[in-house]
Amino acid sequence: MRGLPSIVQKGALVGQPALRKIRVWDLPVRLFHWALPVLMTVLFLSAYAGQMQVHARMGTVTLVLVLFRLVWGFVGSQTARFSDFVTGIGGIHDYLSGKRPKTTGHNPLGAWMILAMLATLLIQSLSGLFSSDSIAFDGPLAHWIGHTAANLAARVHTNLAYAIDILIAVHVLAVVLHWALRGENLIMPMLSGNKHVPADVGQPAFSNPALALTILVLIALLIAAVALAE
Ligand code: HEM
Ligand code: HEM
Repeated sequence: MRGLPSIVQKGALVGQPALRKIRVWDLPVRLFHWALPVLMTVLFLSAYAGQMQVHARMGTVTLVLVLFRLVWGFVGSQTARFSDFVTGIGGIHDYLSGKRPKTTGHNPLGAWMILAMLATLLIQSLSGLFSSDSIAFDGPLAHWIGHTAANLAARVHTNLAYAIDILIAVHVLAVVLHWALRGENLIMPMLSGNKHVPADVGQPAFSNPALALTILVLIALLIAAVALAE
């Protein structure tokens, strides 16, 4: 490449920085993510079809996964950590004014959407455990709090389901708009784990997937013990 500017490299256009492929998303984050559309579909269909046993089981699986993701947000791979991608207003402002985000993972704007989705899914699955439909089905912990409170939990649960619909719609629209307006496909990296980034961007650090599995199993055992306790 002697004599040519360094920007004229494979995969790069003149005037644009060279790109290289790095790993950004670990397997636990990707499996967690793609389980969500499947679970949401089953949860909504089962609730409206009155298949409450299926609904409660899949809702409990969602709770376990969300709790896992929250823990992984503190001890997991670099791009999974909240400290890596959650910024204040300043970070969002910099991002919107075109500055390159410090992280190769979620952008500062998407970060708040992700926190909102995780928080809503957590409250939704917890409220489900305490909900009673007043007819034929009680969540496994509804008897802990009594009839009136269980009906209140069901009201929270029913209304929050609409909020989840809206959040999912905004989320998918944001991903599509990001692709259309900024020309960056975020879906492929969430599938493959890899992203093309400017050559000067470093490879993020990854945690051991065995740690993820251990955390997941411990949370599943804990929730099973609580949900099955009489
Ligand atoms: C088929 C529809 C969906 C598509 C195409 C999609 C796409 C994506 C993409 C591309 C990302 C990564 C964004 C980035 O690079 O910063 C992402 C992240 C995320 N999405 Fe989705 N998504 C879908 C459905 C859902 C659903 C149904 C939920 C939850 C109810 C959801 C919750 C999340 C969460 C929590 C993250 C953050 C992942 C993490 O860090 O663990 N997504 N989604
Ligand atoms: C994020 C996870 C969950 C989602 C998205 C979800 C969604 C829904 C939806 C859409 C409904 C129907 C509301 C309506 O009739 O308008 C519903 C009802 C219900 N869900 Fe869930 N659910 C989740 C987790 C759970 C869990 C973990 C349990 C219990 C273990 C549960 C128990 C119930 C009960 C008892 C009802 C009936 C409430 C009523 O009729 O008032 N759900 N859920």
